[in-house]
Amino acid sequence: MQRILSYIAIVVATALVTGALVAFLLNIRERKEEGRSRHIDIVQLNESITDPAVWGENYPREYDGYKKTVLKTSTRYGGSEGISKLETDPRLKTIFAGYAFSVDYNPRRGHAYSLEDQKETLRTRNFKQTGSCLQCHAGGLKGIYEKAGNGDLMAGFEKVCAMPLKDAWQFAQHPVACIDCHDPRTMGLRVTRPAFFNAIKVLKEKEGIKDYDPNTMASTQEMRTYVCAQCHVEYYCGPKATLFYPWNNGLKVEEIEGYYDSYNFKDGHRFYDFKHEVTGAEVLKAQHPEFEMWSQGVHSKAGVACADCHMPYMREGAAKVTDHYVRSPLLNIGRACLQCHHFTEKEMLERVAVIQDNNKKLLDRAEDALVVLINKVAEVKRFGASEAELTPVWGLQRKAQWRADFVNAENSMGFHAPQEAARILAEAIDYARQGEVLVQILLDKYSVNQELQVGK
Ligand code: HEC
Ligand code: HEC
Ligand code: HEC
Ligand code: HEC
Ligand code: HEC
Repeated sequence: MQRILSYIAIVVATALVTGALVAFLLNIRERKEEGRSRHIDIVQLNESITDPAVWGENYPREYDGYKKTVLKTSTRYGGSEGISKLETDPRLKTIFAGYAFSVDYNPRRGHAYSLEDQKETLRTRNFKQTGSCLQCHAGGLKGIYEKAGNGDLMAGFEKVCAMPLKDAWQFAQHPVACIDCHDPRTMGLRVTRPAFFNAIKVLKEKEGIKDYDPNTMASTQEMRTYVCAQCHVEYYCGPKATLFYPWNNGLKVEEIEGYYDSYNFKDGHRFYDFKHEVTGAEVLKAQHPEFEMWSQGVHSKAGVACADCHMPYMREGAAKVTDHYVRSPLLNIGRACLQCHHFTEKEMLERVAVIQDNNKKLLDRAEDALVVLINKVAEVKRFGASEAELTPVWGLQRKAQWRADFVNAENSMGFHAPQEAARILAEAIDYARQGEVLVQILLDKYSVNQELQVGK
């Protein structure tokens, strides 16, 4: 009897456990399904739908985040609110003398403003620019280029780049948009920018990989960086060549410089962005090399992508949603950093502040040294220094300026690769002071000559 009873007890217990287990598994499955099919396809998306609001009907959570990029934010060195860079750092007016950047240069804002800000800046209102500018500031360019090129993306790209920017704007309706980073049918990540296709192909060829196509050959983790590297990179986009990214020798500051130094425009002249109004040097202007700088840092080496910090995952019930409110990670340390680092938010902020403050101090020294050099060249030019005398000085100004600007134009205030940024700034200071020594020798010579003449 006792045996039968205990037998029944075991059967009942087993049934209960099994039942509970089944219910648990069913619940997990249900939750997973919920995670997967949490959106309802209200719209059948395709390549011709570029308006983020329409995509938002299918993906309201991602669209809500995206819309927040209109908000004003600020951090010690970043955020989307801020006054003109030329006011916060008047040295830049001297450094960019003779160039559009000495007239209007502002801190970046959120993606929602990318088209508007390009239309507003005095750099486009008071200066002629080419259609190349459009590539990183408007949404839906894949379709626009394909249409302009009768189905050929690259041909259309060349065509639009060669237009005056004011004419190219007529094609643009949206700022950075969903369709720039997503395939409308699968929602998988993709890149769409021709200049990026060209540049990454050349870069990979150096590593021995032929005909590299990121959309078919990159891992998801790589794509989580490449979607940003379509635009957050150094580029050339003037009237003398079609927009390109200078990655032929590699991504480091001196590799890019080396490529520019070896690059001749169609008229045979060596590459330069502008002729410095005060010194006469033909110099370079760096633009937001975030991808290049990140590539030299520990996070890149550890496989941490731009999206890991700037678009971290959020949990909503069982669903894992990517935060489409692209912004400074310092506004969101909990999800952006503490997923990997086991510090408090305060400690994390302090670590970043130390890196950024140190970088700022070095940057200040580099810009000060550069301004001293520029002013001294102005002085020696008043004595009538010759082109032959000034050529070596111009070379040093070009090197110093390129390096200081590379770190200044990079938008993380050194965070993306602290040691690399420090190395670059140390070189900038050194080149500027070397230039100053050369100018001082000339100045000494001229003032001695002047004294001799006075003494006659
Ligand atoms: C390990 C985290 C991390 C990674 C990875 C990372 N960033 Fe950043 N990024 C930061 C931090 C921290 C800042 C500084 C923000 C500040 O000062 O408010 C920053 C700043 C920026 C800024 C300026 C933001 C602002 O509000 O002014 C841009 C743009 C940017 N990063 C782009 C990128 C791109 C593009 C990549 C990939 C190539 C990348 N970041 C990779 C952490 C990261
Ligand atoms: C390779 C992509 C790319 C191209 C080409 C490009 N931009 Fe930008 N632009 C960006 C990115 C990324 C930012 C945000 C980061 C920053 O401001 O440093 C930006 C920021 C800006 C801003 C706001 C901040 C500021 O500098 O005042 C303006 C205005 C602007 N660009 C105008 C232009 C004009 C004009 C051209 C053509 C001469 C151009 N852009 C070409 C990527 C690009
Ligand atoms: C600058 C590039 C970029 C833009 C613009 C962009 N996304 Fe994304 N999106 C991403 C990245 C990165 C992920 C993460 C993908 C991954 O890790 O597989 C993502 C993921 C998603 C996913 C998958 C689910 C999730 O949340 O992880 C959906 C759906 C999505 N985005 C919708 C949108 C919509 C809708 C828009 C426009 C309102 C948009 N995205 C704009 C980069 C972008
Ligand atoms: C199609 C070009 C393009 C792509 C792709 C792109 N950006 Fe941007 N991004 C811009 C431009 C242009 C601006 C500046 C807009 C302005 O100032 O009006 C900007 C601004 C920003 C800012 C400053 C926002 C703020 O609030 O300070 C951050 C951070 C940023 N981008 C990060 C990223 C990250 C991370 C990715 C990839 C997930 C990415 N961007 C993809 C063009 C792009
Ligand atoms: C996906 C994981 C991941 C995320 C997200 C991440 N980190 Fe890191 N972080 C790492 C790894 C891995 C290292 C390298 C550790 C090592 O090799 O010692 C690192 C290193 C660092 C270092 C040391 C840097 C140096 O040059 O030695 C700092 C500071 C740091 N992270 C800050 C941050 C901040 C701030 C954020 C958020 C904006 C962040 N990290 C987001 C994984 C991450």
